[in-house]
Amino acid sequence: MCGIVGYVGCRDAYPILIKGLHRLEYRGYDSAGVALVGENGILNIYKAVGKVSNLEDAAQGGDRSGNIGIAHTRWATHGAPCERNAHPHLSQSGKLTMVHNGIIENAGDIRKQLLKKGFTFKSDTDSEVLLQLIEYTRNKYEADLATAIRSSLKKVVGAYAIAVLDSDSPDTLFAARKSSPLAVGIGEGNSEFFIASDASPIAGYTNKIVYINDEELAICKAGEDLCVTTLDDESVSVRAKELDLDVSMLDKGGFPHYMLKEIFEQPEVLRNCMRGRLLSAHRRIILSAVTEHREELLGARRFIMVSCGTSWHAALIGKQLIEQFCRIPVEVAYASEFRYSNPVVGPGDVVFAISQSGETADTLSAIQLAKEKGALIFGIVNAVGSSIARESDTGTYIHVGPEIGVASTKAFTGQTMVFTLLALAIAREKGSIAEDEFNEIFDELELIPGKIESILAQSDAIRELAQKYVGSRNFLYLGRGLNYPVALEGALKLKEISYIHAEGYPAAEMKHGPIALVDEDMPVVFLATHHNLYEKILSNMQEVVARKGKVLAIVTEGDVPVRGLVDRVIEVPKTLGCLCPLLSVVPLQLLAYHIAVAKGLDVDQPRNLAKSVTVE
Ligand code: G6P
Repeated sequence: MCGIVGYVGCRDAYPILIKGLHRLEYRGYDSAGVALVGENGILNIYKAVGKVSNLEDAAQGGDRSGNIGIAHTRWATHGAPCERNAHPHLSQSGKLTMVHNGIIENAGDIRKQLLKKGFTFKSDTDSEVLLQLIEYTRNKYEADLATAIRSSLKKVVGAYAIAVLDSDSPDTLFAARKSSPLAVGIGEGNSEFFIASDASPIAGYTNKIVYINDEELAICKAGEDLCVTTLDDESVSVRAKELDLDVSMLDKGGFPHYMLKEIFEQPEVLRNCMRGRLLSAHRRIILSAVTEHREELLGARRFIMVSCGTSWHAALIGKQLIEQFCRIPVEVAYASEFRYSNPVVGPGDVVFAISQSGETADTLSAIQLAKEKGALIFGIVNAVGSSIARESDTGTYIHVGPEIGVASTKAFTGQTMVFTLLALAIAREKGSIAEDEFNEIFDELELIPGKIESILAQSDAIRELAQKYVGSRNFLYLGRGLNYPVALEGALKLKEISYIHAEGYPAAEMKHGPIALVDEDMPVVFLATHHNLYEKILSNMQEVVARKGKVLAIVTEGDVPVRGLVDRVIEVPKTLGCLCPLLSVVPLQLLAYHIAVAKGLDVDQPRNLAKSVTVE
């Protein structure tokens, strides 16, 4: 987590850095800070607790001039979120300043050694320890700054993306990474450089971008070629990529929150996700990863899915679809558990990494482990060029565009769509699906975006309904089959942004515990759309109604039996059972959104959370 931005060139650095921080605020928003070398050569640092807007207030009236600077938005790990612990940190001499994303695991030991050498610390952070180590190394060995940074980074254990500047050399920025993301944007003729945790602060200024690899240092000197070396000072050849990011996707486009905008983008982004992959004329699904790795996929011993959060819920859907259509066994693991479980994995296994950001530390480590053990790594990622995408042997992007609201919405439907395409494409190659069934699903897939549009048209009605739940303290979400992961996802959405405790459960499992919680104060959301377990879920609903539970049911248009049983229903269009998650999740996203708004909460940046979790 944490977002870092840096700029060196001929423009005013401050507005570029602040705009970049706003775009990275999804990565953490406990505190923010900026350091600039002013026109008079003086280093000016401003910090504030909370959001970037507080930082702007704090810097108001101060000297914000200068063509070089670094900035940071923090998600606290070491040390409370207060001004003292906010970045950028300042070295003992007052010359060096640094921002850091990641965790230095041996900071405690290094701090003790530096204290003995007379260093003092102003913050509780591991980051300040790294900066003082760089200064110590530079002074002790009379080294240049690049050498001091390389040598210090070789001594630290953990993860880092850093940007460092020396106020005595106000034309150069230094940036390095290990296990935390970092990109450098290169301006026309090397006249300027942008450093950032992802491409969003760079978009709109230049479309030449270089993703720095682990244990590499980039030296960005305005007017000179970008120089990248390993920590052993071996030169690395730099290959800039074309940055293809639509800047208009980075603003709210007239919606009050990113989350609502992203919910409403789902029809369009799912069309993008299918474009070029669904060949209507021939009723074929083309995924290059399936074509290129046909033998490994078809002959796989089993598939293992590793992921976290919402992406883990999508993996549960992927498992059901792949097992149903391809008859290949699939295991689903939390990435954080998988990596420490001494997993039985090796050649013949295909490990899928599902990740919106492509930077989640646990997921990245899980695939690195599986790769070492000989598995084929298949990424299902949104962020193009991200660490997980690069670490994967093959994969399929979900192509839903930047997702900024911390609660994931369009990424979930994008991941579900990719799993559907993947299951169908593999099944077709394997001959494990009948042609009629394939064609029926194929034709229905093309109708899904339009059907989501009709659910979105009910947003106002769902807002009215949401008012009734503002005072609720607990919720149960129940579903079966493919709607079970949707129940988990609906519960997660609610707790993430409305802070209401919510649990998702397989509906039949409810009677083994959660039913004890049901009374007239307990809202129970049932996913009761038409699919093979519809009759069964009706019985589960009866059990709740009999105990006076307040049921809200998501049903298929025109449903009569459920209407006869419960008061509150939200209808979704009829679709095939295997595609029901793509529709039934949408009203749950809207419900969570409208409840959180009605409670006056910060929907896009809920407390304690961050969008990209780059610490384990
Ligand atoms: C965080 C986000 C979730 C997300 C999870 C996994 O917790 O708040 O929305 O599902 O990380 O992230 P990934 O980027 O790997 O999908």
